[in-house]
Amino acid sequence: MARSNVWLLLPIGVLVATGCGEGVDSAPKLEGGYTVDQSLPGMPCDISRLLNTRCNGCHGAPLKNSAPIPLVSRANLLERSQVDPSVTVGARSALRMRDTALSMPPARYPQPTEEEKAAFETWVAEGMPDGRCGEADAGVTVIEPVDAGPAPTVCSSNTFWTRGNDGSASMNPGFACRSCHLGQNFEGQNPNGDSERGRAFFFMGTVFPSLHEKNLCRSVVPSSGGTVEIIDAQGKVAATLMVNASGNFMSTSTRTTIAMPYTARVKANGRVRAMTTPQTDGDCNTCHTEQGRNDAPGRIVWP
Ligand code: HEC
Ligand code: HEC
Ligand code: HEC
Repeated sequence: MARSNVWLLLPIGVLVATGCGEGVDSAPKLEGGYTVDQSLPGMPCDISRLLNTRCNGCHGAPLKNSAPIPLVSRANLLERSQVDPSVTVGARSALRMRDTALSMPPARYPQPTEEEKAAFETWVAEGMPDGRCGEADAGVTVIEPVDAGPAPTVCSSNTFWTRGNDGSASMNPGFACRSCHLGQNFEGQNPNGDSERGRAFFFMGTVFPSLHEKNLCRSVVPSSGGTVEIIDAQGKVAATLMVNASGNFMSTSTRTTIAMPYTARVKANGRVRAMTTPQTDGDCNTCHTEQGRNDAPGRIVWP
Protein backbone atom coordinates (compact mmCIF):
# COMPACT_ATOMS: atom_id res chain seq x y z
CA MET A 1 0.00 0.00 0.00
CA ALA A 2 1.30 3.38 -0.90
CA ARG A 3 2.00 5.79 1.85
CA SER A 4 2.96 9.36 1.85
CA ASN A 5 5.76 11.74 2.48
CA VAL A 6 3.59 14.81 2.56
CA TRP A 7 1.78 15.98 5.62
CA LEU A 8 -1.13 18.26 5.35
CA LEU A 9 -1.49 20.73 8.16
CA LEU A 10 -5.19 21.36 8.24
CA PRO A 11 -5.85 25.06 8.48
CA ILE A 12 -7.78 25.75 11.59
CA GLY A 13 -7.52 29.20 12.97
CA VAL A 14 -7.22 28.41 16.61
CA LEU A 15 -5.60 28.67 19.80
CA VAL A 16 -2.13 29.46 20.64
CA ALA A 17 -1.62 29.65 24.35
CA THR A 18 0.87 28.39 26.80
CA GLY A 19 0.70 26.39 29.95
CA CYS A 20 -1.81 23.81 30.93
CA GLY A 21 -4.93 25.22 32.49
CA GLU A 22 -7.07 23.52 35.05
CA GLY A 23 -9.21 20.77 33.60
CA VAL A 24 -11.79 22.55 31.55
CA ASP A 25 -14.70 20.58 30.31
CA SER A 26 -14.91 21.97 26.85
CA ALA A 27 -16.10 20.00 23.89
CA PRO A 28 -13.73 20.23 20.96
CA LYS A 29 -14.96 22.59 18.28
CA LEU A 30 -15.44 20.78 15.02
CA GLU A 31 -15.34 22.92 11.94
CA GLY A 32 -16.51 21.83 8.51
CA GLY A 33 -14.89 18.45 7.90
CA TYR A 34 -11.76 19.17 9.89
CA THR A 35 -10.49 17.07 12.70
CA VAL A 36 -9.76 19.18 15.70
CA ASP A 37 -8.53 17.08 18.51
CA GLN A 38 -8.75 18.09 22.10
CA SER A 39 -6.42 17.25 24.89
CA LEU A 40 -6.17 13.50 25.12
CA PRO A 41 -7.74 11.94 28.23
CA GLY A 42 -5.29 11.68 31.12
CA MET A 43 -2.42 13.41 29.35
CA PRO A 44 -0.48 16.59 30.01
CA CYS A 45 -0.56 19.19 27.25
CA ASP A 46 2.87 18.61 25.79
CA ILE A 47 2.26 14.86 25.56
CA SER A 48 -1.17 15.38 23.95
CA ARG A 49 0.34 17.77 21.48
CA LEU A 50 3.19 15.42 20.57
CA LEU A 51 0.88 12.47 19.98
CA ASN A 52 -1.67 14.51 18.05
CA THR A 53 0.80 16.17 15.75
CA ARG A 54 3.30 13.35 15.19
CA CYS A 55 1.47 10.09 15.74
CA ASN A 56 -2.29 10.23 15.59
CA GLY A 57 -2.63 10.86 11.89
CA CYS A 58 -2.07 7.07 11.94
CA HIS A 59 -2.60 5.96 15.56
CA GLY A 60 -5.83 7.97 15.99
CA ALA A 61 -9.43 6.84 15.83
CA PRO A 62 -9.97 5.42 13.30
CA LEU A 63 -6.54 3.83 12.85
CA LYS A 64 -4.94 4.66 9.50
CA ASN A 65 -2.02 3.53 7.35
CA SER A 66 -1.80 0.09 9.04
CA ALA A 67 -1.06 1.49 12.50
CA PRO A 68 -1.98 -1.41 14.81
CA ILE A 69 -2.91 0.38 18.05
CA PRO A 70 -4.53 3.66 19.11
CA LEU A 71 -2.53 6.24 21.09
CA VAL A 72 -5.41 8.50 22.07
CA SER A 73 -5.59 8.16 25.84
CA ARG A 74 -3.37 7.59 28.84
CA ALA A 75 -5.13 4.22 29.20
CA ASN A 76 -3.89 3.23 25.73
CA LEU A 77 -0.31 3.99 26.75
CA LEU A 78 -0.59 2.10 30.04
CA GLU A 79 -1.54 -1.12 28.25
CA ARG A 80 0.95 -3.94 27.87
CA SER A 81 2.71 -3.93 24.51
CA GLN A 82 1.73 -6.76 22.15
CA VAL A 83 5.26 -6.68 20.77
CA ASP A 84 6.95 -6.97 24.16
CA PRO A 85 4.49 -7.74 26.96
CA SER A 86 7.13 -6.95 29.60
CA VAL A 87 6.70 -3.22 28.89
CA THR A 88 3.89 -0.73 28.32
CA VAL A 89 2.82 0.78 25.01
CA GLY A 90 4.11 4.10 26.40
CA ALA A 91 7.59 2.63 26.90
CA ARG A 92 7.50 1.10 23.41
CA SER A 93 6.49 4.49 22.02
CA ALA A 94 9.49 6.15 23.66
CA LEU A 95 11.73 3.40 22.30
CA ARG A 96 10.37 3.53 18.76
CA MET A 97 10.86 7.30 18.59
CA ARG A 98 14.61 6.60 19.10
CA ASP A 99 14.81 3.47 16.94
CA THR A 100 17.01 4.46 14.01
CA ALA A 101 16.16 1.38 11.92
CA LEU A 102 12.42 1.41 12.60
CA SER A 103 11.59 4.88 13.75
CA MET A 104 8.14 6.04 14.77
CA PRO A 105 6.87 7.98 12.97
CA PRO A 106 8.26 6.05 9.97
CA ALA A 107 11.38 7.77 8.64
CA ARG A 108 9.64 9.58 5.78
CA TYR A 109 7.38 11.51 8.13
CA PRO A 110 8.21 14.60 10.17
CA GLN A 111 9.99 13.50 13.33
CA PRO A 112 9.47 14.77 16.87
CA THR A 113 12.06 17.28 18.08
CA GLU A 114 14.71 16.31 20.62
CA GLU A 115 12.79 18.35 23.19
CA GLU A 116 9.53 16.51 22.48
CA LYS A 117 11.21 13.12 22.75
CA ALA A 118 12.91 14.05 26.01
CA ALA A 119 9.64 15.33 27.54
CA PHE A 120 7.89 12.11 26.52
CA GLU A 121 10.65 9.95 28.00
CA THR A 122 10.54 11.84 31.27
CA TRP A 123 6.78 11.41 31.49
CA VAL A 124 7.08 7.65 30.82
CA ALA A 125 9.95 7.29 33.31
CA GLU A 126 7.80 8.97 35.96
CA GLY A 127 5.13 6.33 35.41
CA MET A 128 2.94 8.37 33.04
CA PRO A 129 1.24 10.49 35.75
CA ASP A 130 -2.33 11.55 35.05
CA GLY A 131 -2.41 14.96 33.48
CA ARG A 132 -4.86 17.45 32.12
CA CYS A 133 -4.88 20.20 29.63
CA GLY A 134 -7.11 23.23 29.53
CA GLU A 135 -9.20 24.66 26.74
CA ALA A 136 -6.53 27.11 25.75
CA ASP A 137 -4.26 24.30 24.66
CA ALA A 138 -6.97 22.02 23.49
CA GLY A 139 -7.11 22.89 19.83
CA VAL A 140 -4.37 20.68 18.56
CA THR A 141 -4.52 19.89 14.89
CA VAL A 142 -4.17 16.28 13.94
CA ILE A 143 -1.82 16.11 11.01
CA GLU A 144 -3.06 13.68 8.42
CA PRO A 145 -0.53 11.86 6.28
CA VAL A 146 -1.49 12.31 2.66
CA ASP A 147 -1.00 9.52 0.18
CA ALA A 148 1.83 10.58 -2.12
CA GLY A 149 2.74 7.34 -3.83
CA PRO A 150 4.99 4.40 -3.04
CA ALA A 151 7.63 4.47 -0.33
CA PRO A 152 11.24 4.52 -1.51
CA THR A 153 12.76 1.03 -1.47
CA VAL A 154 16.23 0.05 -0.28
CA CYS A 155 18.54 -2.97 -0.25
CA SER A 156 20.41 -2.75 3.06
CA SER A 157 22.79 -5.62 2.25
CA ASN A 158 23.45 -4.20 -1.21
CA THR A 159 23.50 -7.83 -2.40
CA PHE A 160 20.98 -9.34 -4.81
CA TRP A 161 20.04 -12.91 -5.74
CA THR A 162 21.14 -13.34 -9.35
CA ARG A 163 20.65 -17.08 -9.97
CA GLY A 164 17.03 -16.83 -11.07
CA ASN A 165 15.03 -19.97 -10.35
CA ASP A 166 18.08 -22.19 -9.88
CA GLY A 167 16.68 -23.70 -6.69
CA SER A 168 18.14 -23.09 -3.26
CA ALA A 169 16.82 -22.29 0.20
CA SER A 170 18.40 -18.84 -0.28
CA MET A 171 16.64 -18.13 -3.58
CA ASN A 172 14.49 -15.15 -4.55
CA PRO A 173 14.27 -13.39 -1.14
CA GLY A 174 11.18 -11.19 -0.93
CA PHE A 175 9.31 -13.00 -3.71
CA ALA A 176 6.12 -14.97 -3.01
CA CYS A 177 7.79 -18.38 -2.62
CA ARG A 178 4.79 -20.65 -2.42
CA SER A 179 2.90 -18.97 -5.27
CA CYS A 180 5.81 -19.56 -7.62
CA HIS A 181 6.39 -23.11 -6.40
CA LEU A 182 2.73 -23.75 -7.24
CA GLY A 183 3.34 -22.39 -10.76
CA GLN A 184 1.55 -19.07 -10.22
CA ASN A 185 2.77 -15.69 -11.48
CA PHE A 186 2.30 -13.40 -8.44
CA GLU A 187 3.06 -9.77 -9.44
CA GLY A 188 4.81 -10.97 -12.59
CA GLN A 189 7.49 -12.79 -10.58
CA ASN A 190 7.15 -16.04 -12.54
CA PRO A 191 6.67 -15.16 -16.21
CA ASN A 192 7.89 -18.58 -17.43
CA GLY A 193 5.47 -20.51 -15.25
CA ASP A 194 8.20 -22.43 -13.39
CA SER A 195 7.10 -24.60 -10.49
CA GLU A 196 8.41 -26.79 -7.67
CA ARG A 197 5.20 -28.25 -6.25
CA GLY A 198 6.96 -30.74 -3.99
CA ARG A 199 8.45 -27.80 -2.12
CA ALA A 200 5.41 -25.52 -2.08
CA PHE A 201 5.63 -25.52 1.70
CA PHE A 202 2.65 -24.08 3.53
CA PHE A 203 4.61 -21.35 5.38
CA MET A 204 7.32 -19.54 3.43
CA GLY A 205 8.73 -16.04 3.48
CA THR A 206 11.59 -13.65 4.20
CA VAL A 207 12.52 -11.50 7.22
CA PHE A 208 14.24 -8.19 6.37
CA PRO A 209 16.05 -5.42 8.26
CA SER A 210 13.58 -2.72 7.19
CA LEU A 211 10.04 -2.30 5.86
CA HIS A 212 10.65 -1.50 2.21
CA GLU A 213 13.52 -3.76 1.16
CA LYS A 214 13.65 -4.56 -2.55
CA ASN A 215 12.70 -7.89 -4.10
CA LEU A 216 15.66 -10.30 -4.47
CA CYS A 217 17.71 -8.35 -1.92
CA ARG A 218 19.52 -10.62 0.51
CA SER A 219 18.49 -9.86 4.06
CA VAL A 220 20.83 -8.87 6.86
CA VAL A 221 20.42 -11.48 9.59
CA PRO A 222 21.43 -10.90 13.23
CA SER A 223 24.61 -12.84 14.09
CA SER A 224 22.72 -14.88 16.68
CA GLY A 225 20.13 -15.82 14.02
CA GLY A 226 16.38 -15.64 14.27
CA THR A 227 13.19 -17.69 14.16
CA VAL A 228 9.61 -17.32 12.99
CA GLU A 229 6.96 -18.83 15.21
CA ILE A 230 3.56 -19.84 13.88
CA ILE A 231 0.83 -19.60 16.49
CA ASP A 232 -2.33 -21.62 15.99
CA ALA A 233 -5.96 -20.62 16.50
CA GLN A 234 -5.71 -21.68 20.16
CA GLY A 235 -2.75 -19.38 20.75
CA LYS A 236 -0.17 -22.17 20.99
CA VAL A 237 3.19 -22.07 19.22
CA ALA A 238 2.61 -24.73 16.57
CA ALA A 239 5.84 -24.42 14.56
CA THR A 240 9.23 -22.76 14.91
CA LEU A 241 10.97 -22.02 11.60
CA MET A 242 14.66 -21.14 11.33
CA VAL A 243 15.52 -18.07 9.29
CA ASN A 244 18.52 -18.77 7.05
CA ALA A 245 21.39 -16.46 6.10
CA SER A 246 19.47 -14.93 3.19
CA GLY A 247 16.50 -14.09 5.45
CA ASN A 248 14.31 -16.89 4.06
CA PHE A 249 12.33 -19.34 6.16
CA MET A 250 9.99 -22.22 5.35
CA SER A 251 8.05 -25.05 6.94
CA THR A 252 8.63 -28.66 5.97
CA SER A 253 5.28 -29.78 4.60
CA THR A 254 3.15 -28.62 1.69
CA ARG A 255 0.05 -28.96 3.84
CA THR A 256 -0.62 -27.91 7.36
CA THR A 257 -2.48 -29.49 10.23
CA ILE A 258 -2.19 -26.28 12.27
CA ALA A 259 -5.57 -24.98 13.46
CA MET A 260 -6.43 -21.91 11.38
CA PRO A 261 -6.39 -18.97 11.47
CA TYR A 262 -2.81 -18.51 12.59
CA THR A 263 -0.78 -15.55 13.81
CA ALA A 264 3.00 -15.27 13.70
CA ARG A 265 5.96 -13.63 15.38
CA VAL A 266 9.62 -13.12 14.70
CA LYS A 267 12.19 -13.63 17.45
CA ALA A 268 15.78 -12.42 17.40
CA ASN A 269 18.22 -10.83 19.83
CA GLY A 270 15.87 -11.63 22.70
CA ARG A 271 13.15 -9.49 21.17
CA VAL A 272 9.83 -10.26 19.53
CA ARG A 273 7.78 -8.71 16.76
CA ALA A 274 4.28 -10.06 16.36
CA MET A 275 1.53 -10.16 13.77
CA THR A 276 -1.70 -9.99 15.72
CA THR A 277 -4.03 -10.09 12.72
CA PRO A 278 -5.10 -13.71 12.10
CA GLN A 279 -4.28 -15.15 8.66
CA THR A 280 -5.02 -18.30 6.69
CA ASP A 281 -2.53 -17.97 3.80
CA GLY A 282 1.02 -19.08 4.71
CA ASP A 283 2.71 -17.46 1.69
CA CYS A 284 3.88 -14.51 3.80
CA ASN A 285 5.48 -12.49 1.01
CA THR A 286 2.17 -12.12 -0.87
CA CYS A 287 1.23 -9.50 1.75
CA HIS A 288 4.70 -8.54 2.97
CA THR A 289 5.77 -7.12 -0.40
CA GLU A 290 8.04 -4.11 -0.97
CA GLN A 291 5.13 -1.75 -0.32
CA GLY A 292 2.84 -4.13 1.60
CA ARG A 293 -0.50 -5.49 0.39
CA ASN A 294 -3.75 -6.30 2.19
CA ASP A 295 -2.90 -3.75 4.91
CA ALA A 296 0.54 -5.19 5.72
CA PRO A 297 2.94 -2.28 6.37
CA GLY A 298 5.64 -3.73 4.09
CA ARG A 299 8.18 -6.48 4.78
CA ILE A 300 8.36 -8.77 7.79
CA VAL A 301 11.12 -7.10 9.81
CA TRP A 302 13.43 -8.07 12.66
CA PRO A 303 12.30 -6.95 16.10
C1 HEC B 1 2.42 7.16 8.98
C2 HEC B 1 1.78 6.39 10.00
C3 HEC B 1 2.38 6.34 11.39
C4 HEC B 1 2.76 7.38 12.20
C5 HEC B 1 2.70 8.85 11.89
C6 HEC B 1 3.20 6.77 13.44
N1 HEC B 1 3.09 5.42 13.38
FE1 HEC B 1 3.50 4.08 14.90
N2 HEC B 1 3.00 2.54 13.66
C7 HEC B 1 2.65 2.65 12.33
C8 HEC B 1 2.60 1.32 11.73
C9 HEC B 1 2.25 1.01 10.28
C10 HEC B 1 2.95 0.39 12.73
C11 HEC B 1 3.06 -1.15 12.61
C12 HEC B 1 4.40 -1.53 12.00
C13 HEC B 1 5.57 -1.25 12.87
O1 HEC B 1 5.54 -1.62 14.07
O2 HEC B 1 6.55 -0.68 12.37
C14 HEC B 1 3.17 1.20 13.94
C15 HEC B 1 3.49 0.66 15.18
C16 HEC B 1 3.68 1.39 16.35
C17 HEC B 1 3.81 0.82 17.66
C18 HEC B 1 3.63 -0.65 18.02
C19 HEC B 1 4.77 -1.50 17.64
C20 HEC B 1 5.90 -1.51 18.65
O3 HEC B 1 7.05 -1.54 18.19
O4 HEC B 1 5.66 -1.50 19.86
C21 HEC B 1 4.04 1.87 18.53
C22 HEC B 1 4.24 1.78 20.03
C23 HEC B 1 4.04 3.08 17.73
N3 HEC B 1 3.81 2.75 16.40
C24 HEC B 1 4.23 4.35 18.24
C25 HEC B 1 4.20 5.50 17.47
C26 HEC B 1 4.45 6.82 18.01
C27 HEC B 1 4.78 7.11 19.46
C28 HEC B 1 4.31 7.71 16.98
C29 HEC B 1 4.51 9.19 16.99
C30 HEC B 1 5.67 9.70 17.69
C31 HEC B 1 3.95 6.94 15.79
N4 HEC B 1 3.91 5.62 16.14
C32 HEC B 1 3.67 7.50 14.54
C33 HEC B 1 2.35 3.82 11.66
C34 HEC B 1 2.60 5.10 12.14
C1 HEC C 1 9.73 -17.38 -9.44
C2 HEC C 1 9.70 -18.74 -8.93
C3 HEC C 1 10.26 -19.08 -7.59
C4 HEC C 1 10.22 -18.31 -6.44
C5 HEC C 1 9.64 -16.91 -6.26
C6 HEC C 1 10.83 -19.09 -5.40
N1 HEC C 1 11.23 -20.30 -5.89
FE1 HEC C 1 12.16 -21.76 -4.82
N2 HEC C 1 12.26 -22.90 -6.48
C7 HEC C 1 11.77 -22.57 -7.71
C8 HEC C 1 12.05 -23.63 -8.65
C9 HEC C 1 11.65 -23.65 -10.12
C10 HEC C 1 12.75 -24.61 -7.92
C11 HEC C 1 13.29 -25.93 -8.46
C12 HEC C 1 14.39 -25.68 -9.44
C13 HEC C 1 15.71 -26.23 -9.06
O1 HEC C 1 15.74 -27.13 -8.20
O2 HEC C 1 16.72 -25.75 -9.56
C14 HEC C 1 12.86 -24.13 -6.56
C15 HEC C 1 13.49 -24.81 -5.53
C16 HEC C 1 13.52 -24.40 -4.22
C17 HEC C 1 14.11 -25.15 -3.14
C18 HEC C 1 14.80 -26.49 -3.26
C19 HEC C 1 16.28 -26.29 -3.39
C20 HEC C 1 17.02 -27.58 -3.55
O3 HEC C 1 17.67 -27.98 -2.58
O4 HEC C 1 16.92 -28.18 -4.62
C21 HEC C 1 13.93 -24.44 -1.99
C22 HEC C 1 14.36 -24.83 -0.59
C23 HEC C 1 13.26 -23.21 -2.36
N3 HEC C 1 13.03 -23.23 -3.72
C24 HEC C 1 12.91 -22.20 -1.47
C25 HEC C 1 12.34 -21.00 -1.86
C26 HEC C 1 12.03 -19.92 -0.95
C27 HEC C 1 12.27 -19.92 0.55
C28 HEC C 1 11.50 -18.92 -1.71
C29 HEC C 1 10.99 -17.56 -1.27
C30 HEC C 1 11.84 -16.69 -0.50
C31 HEC C 1 11.46 -19.38 -3.07
N4 HEC C 1 11.97 -20.63 -3.14
C32 HEC C 1 10.98 -18.62 -4.11
C33 HEC C 1 11.10 -21.41 -8.06
C34 HEC C 1 10.88 -20.32 -7.21
C1 HEC D 1 -3.02 -11.89 4.02
C2 HEC D 1 -1.95 -10.97 4.37
C3 HEC D 1 -0.83 -11.42 5.29
C4 HEC D 1 -0.12 -12.61 5.25
C5 HEC D 1 -0.31 -13.78 4.31
C6 HEC D 1 0.87 -12.49 6.29
N1 HEC D 1 0.77 -11.29 6.92
FE1 HEC D 1 1.99 -10.61 8.45
N2 HEC D 1 0.92 -8.88 8.51
C7 HEC D 1 -0.21 -8.60 7.79
C8 HEC D 1 -0.79 -7.35 8.26
C9 HEC D 1 -2.07 -6.73 7.74
C10 HEC D 1 0.04 -6.87 9.29
C11 HEC D 1 -0.12 -5.57 10.12
C12 HEC D 1 -1.08 -5.78 11.27
C13 HEC D 1 -0.54 -6.69 12.36
O1 HEC D 1 0.60 -6.46 12.82
O2 HEC D 1 -1.24 -7.64 12.75
C14 HEC D 1 1.10 -7.86 9.42
C15 HEC D 1 2.15 -7.73 10.33
C16 HEC D 1 3.12 -8.69 10.53
C17 HEC D 1 4.17 -8.57 11.51
C18 HEC D 1 4.41 -7.38 12.44
C19 HEC D 1 4.84 -6.14 11.72
C20 HEC D 1 6.01 -6.32 10.81
O3 HEC D 1 5.89 -5.92 9.65
O4 HEC D 1 7.04 -6.87 11.22
C21 HEC D 1 4.91 -9.74 11.44
C22 HEC D 1 6.10 -10.10 12.27
C23 HEC D 1 4.28 -10.57 10.44
N3 HEC D 1 3.22 -9.90 9.89
C24 HEC D 1 4.72 -11.84 10.11
C25 HEC D 1 4.13 -12.65 9.14
C26 HEC D 1 4.56 -14.00 8.82
C27 HEC D 1 5.72 -14.70 9.47
C28 HEC D 1 3.73 -14.45 7.84
C29 HEC D 1 3.71 -15.80 7.17
C30 HEC D 1 3.86 -17.01 8.03
C31 HEC D 1 2.77 -13.40 7.55
N4 HEC D 1 3.05 -12.33 8.35
C32 HEC D 1 1.78 -13.50 6.60
C33 HEC D 1 -0.71 -9.35 6.74
C34 HEC D 1 -0.26 -10.60 6.36
